[in-house]
Amino acid sequence: MIVLGIESSCDETAASVVEDGHRVRSSIVASQYELHAEYGGVVPEIASRAHEQHIVPVIDAALDEAGVSRNDLDAIAVGHRPGLIGSLLVGLSAAKAMSWALGVPLIGVDHVHAHLWAGMLDRGLPAFPALGLVVSGGHTSIYSMRSPTELKRLGATIDDAVGEAYDKVAAILGLGHPGGSKIDELGRAEGADDRAFDFPVSRLAKESLDFSFSGLKTAVLYEVRGRPTPPAIKGKPPLPVPDVPELTPERTRDIAASFQRAVERAVVLKLERAIEQHGPFRTLVVGGGVSANTRLRSAFAQLADRNGMELVIPAMAYCIDNAAMIAGLGGVLLNNGRRDDLMLSAVPTTGC
Ligand code: KG4
Ligand code: ZN
Repeated sequence: MIVLGIESSCDETAASVVEDGHRVRSSIVASQYELHAEYGGVVPEIASRAHEQHIVPVIDAALDEAGVSRNDLDAIAVGHRPGLIGSLLVGLSAAKAMSWALGVPLIGVDHVHAHLWAGMLDRGLPAFPALGLVVSGGHTSIYSMRSPTELKRLGATIDDAVGEAYDKVAAILGLGHPGGSKIDELGRAEGADDRAFDFPVSRLAKESLDFSFSGLKTAVLYEVRGRPTPPAIKGKPPLPVPDVPELTPERTRDIAASFQRAVERAVVLKLERAIEQHGPFRTLVVGGGVSANTRLRSAFAQLADRNGMELVIPAMAYCIDNAAMIAGLGGVLLNNGRRDDLMLSAVPTTGC
């Protein structure tokens, strides 16, 4: 069973051919980082225009690299939710056109759920039930998984996604966009002290499996730029503006390391809580751009080990947005009898 996957939910135009859900025959990703870098974040209108330019060449390249023709395809899978609406529409329109022209099924795939499939590419299925964690630029969610397609969300971020916190902290530290990998690198640089700053770890309510990263991001902002001075009180002398130490390379490195320690503690705390409340689980399945993070990867391995779970985590190429995870999960859904029609909508929010 050969499935073409198409992904255009944010700032990557991607296409991939995957056989039987697992075997990646090709995976092409055209990133738009440079187009958005000068704005410090993704500009939706620029993103959808770039998708329009890249979608056909990217699909052609994926077919070419896989050595298959359009007529070999058994289905077209497309990430149709969640994402930027204009961006989603480009991939969805291409997928519908191909499905109609070739007379093969169209399968809509939830991009967040597909991140949990990324670790199952080029390997077999792990044991279930599994605990799932998606840590990406747009989402941070914990799932209980009875199978790759039976997910129950146990918790999610109530404000910033973890990748968003990485990107905002990178911007505060002047590291450019997107900054996750730069913080990763700085945080493990020689001499980095991850206890130099005691950044807050949000626990929320005692039983909560939700996350919050906005307080952590603000704590970094105050450390770098100083706390905002309270407004002057009439008749009193203005409060002194606190001195902020210069942001030297050493200080930047230590802030990056301490920020990462706080992120790790927050994520591990919630995973441990989820195991306590909903376990036992046989496998820990992680996915999303932030699962490329060196420090978190080793924390996940240790946590899985401590709890007698197998760890399923994507190869580096499948951490960030890609279409192999869409084609792979699309293949599983196809096998389960799922078929969508040409009325399939682009939806900005995730299914669960
Ligand atoms: O999954 P993804 O490609 O897009 C979304 O679905 O949102 O994730 C992108 C996010 C960005 O926030 C980026 O900074 C972060 O993944 N990221 C990293 C690393 N590589 C990418 N964060 C921490 N460490 C990394 N090595
Ligand atoms: Zn993603």
